[in-house]
Amino acid sequence: MIKTGALLTLVGVGGGALAACGGGPSGTGNGTGGPGTSTPPAPGTAFTPVAPNTQDAVVVPEGYTNSVVIRWGDPILPGAPAFDFAKQTPDAQAGQFGFNNDYCALVPLGPDRWAMWSNHEYVTPEFMFTGYNKDNPTEDQVRISWNAVGGSVVAVRRGASGALEAVPGDPLNRRITALTPFRLTGPAAGSAPMRTAADPEGRTVLGMHSNCSGGLTPWGTILSGEENFHGLFGNASAVTEPTAAARIKRYGITTGASLTKWERFDARWDLAREANEVNRYGYIVEIDPQEPTSTPVKHTSLGRLKHEGANIRLAADGRAVAYMGDDERFEYLYKFVSRDAHRPGDRAHNKTLLENGSLYVATFTGPAPAPGSGQHAGGGTWIQLTENGVSKVPGMSIEEVLVFTRQAADKVGATKMDRPEDVQPHPRSGKVYVALTNNTDRGAAGKAGPDAANPRPANKHGQILELTERGDDPTGTAFDWSLLLVCGDPAAPDTYYGGFDKTQVSPISCPDNVDFDSHGNLWISTDGNALKSNDGLFVVPLEGPERGHVKQFLTVPIGAETCGPVVMDSFVLVSVQHPGETDDASADKPSSHWPDGGTSQPRPAVVCVTRDGGAPIGA
Ligand code: FEO
Ligand code: CA
Ligand code: CA
Repeated sequence: MIKTGALLTLVGVGGGALAACGGGPSGTGNGTGGPGTSTPPAPGTAFTPVAPNTQDAVVVPEGYTNSVVIRWGDPILPGAPAFDFAKQTPDAQAGQFGFNNDYCALVPLGPDRWAMWSNHEYVTPEFMFTGYNKDNPTEDQVRISWNAVGGSVVAVRRGASGALEAVPGDPLNRRITALTPFRLTGPAAGSAPMRTAADPEGRTVLGMHSNCSGGLTPWGTILSGEENFHGLFGNASAVTEPTAAARIKRYGITTGASLTKWERFDARWDLAREANEVNRYGYIVEIDPQEPTSTPVKHTSLGRLKHEGANIRLAADGRAVAYMGDDERFEYLYKFVSRDAHRPGDRAHNKTLLENGSLYVATFTGPAPAPGSGQHAGGGTWIQLTENGVSKVPGMSIEEVLVFTRQAADKVGATKMDRPEDVQPHPRSGKVYVALTNNTDRGAAGKAGPDAANPRPANKHGQILELTERGDDPTGTAFDWSLLLVCGDPAAPDTYYGGFDKTQVSPISCPDNVDFDSHGNLWISTDGNALKSNDGLFVVPLEGPERGHVKQFLTVPIGAETCGPVVMDSFVLVSVQHPGETDDASADKPSSHWPDGGTSQPRPAVVCVTRDGGAPIGA
């Protein structure tokens, strides 16, 4: 409590407020709505907020406990060996949980049993191997990396403590890696930019990587976004034909040797030898965790960008609308509207919904507000890029729009956003919440300046935008928006916490992934907290007098990012990604020993948080 007081004082909250704040561990729930008031906490948010800190631990509220569900290297497939940091092999990794878990989702299988999906976004070999030489990685290190990315399906069940535990060897368990065959779907499948020497048909891709966030579809499959794929291809400078070179530049493909040097061990990562493989990454992929032998797909209809993820709302007529962000500075917000309607219970049909439809990109308008006024609001339009397999962009073919989507969006004048991460519709209100994580280049020389929806220059802390489709029709082209949160130090005049008293909130910075609880509250995980404390998971009510009352539920260890929250009534899952990823650290000089302590190497892991005594979260 002393530490809590000190840190809150740092952000402008006095001891009196602390004494009045938060529900006790027994769940009596006497939080406050502001100084001198006694409004009760919104349902699901009655816990004492975790103070900002820099501990090498997962820190949860008093009265809560956290445990590791699964960590990098834990065996999941039958016959996979136990993890041995010093004796890793490509075959062992192919049967073990991959590295750097990001998005996480649970598909219900029965009472207290789920198929858990995890993205394994990327590798940092200097944290995976001692003595790693970045200029000369060994072939084994590269092959281990190919098997460490992708994703995992792991059966989980509720253990005796109430926390989830993994079920190694379950028949549903699966690893998807950079080598797993994928089928391309949609209008760009089989088109010229998709054909390679190894796949002259242009319909089968080996593997996925750079999968950041994702979404669970109403029909029980997983969507996952291939994000920073550009860094795993090398030698783009070998491509000199002007149109092709401009495309490569627009996606930022590495011009020289790639950081991980994969191109030394397979020509497909080398643009000097295979110019088209790179066109086959950057998609929304769909995986059916209940069919472990099914071929996963990459949906070209949803465009090629640095996809954070995709989240679906069904329109009144049953069409599936997928909301998506392109996570890079000054990139765009997109949505896809399926041609066909969802059919309840018809999984085979529903799994084709993302193959045909129309792609849109957003423009935002609105007045420039006074900083901190909270008057960040305006209107917007979805500009159509494709219509059921036909290009709507003058001068670009359908496959050009879908494979070089950024250039199509440039042509129609979409609004350059502050790094769109998760974009998720609220399951009840239909309002869409957009995490705009930060953009330190906003207003820099030669770059776009502040605008209504991206109001701050050199934006270090990000904002959360609330988008309301006009007429509550997600298939339409007009929307209204406002900013729910303008993140950063609550004491700073340019921040805004939904109109709530800023002396009462937990400071939040760099929102990344979002989820909703059964009460309708928004949960937000952060990546890159620019307020000098560890990243965390926060909850914020969206309605009533507690709207904007941000409370920190947990923090993750040194150097880690909080990802993939799954918020259930009786537990919360978070992906703890890249613990110990700090400047100058490596496996030879680890800066974190989480989760196993002592002198152990840090290992990315999925964590389950439960309430002592089994009461619901935040009740
Ligand atoms: Fe991989 Fe957009 O964070
Ligand atoms: Ca992310
Ligand atoms: Ca991130």
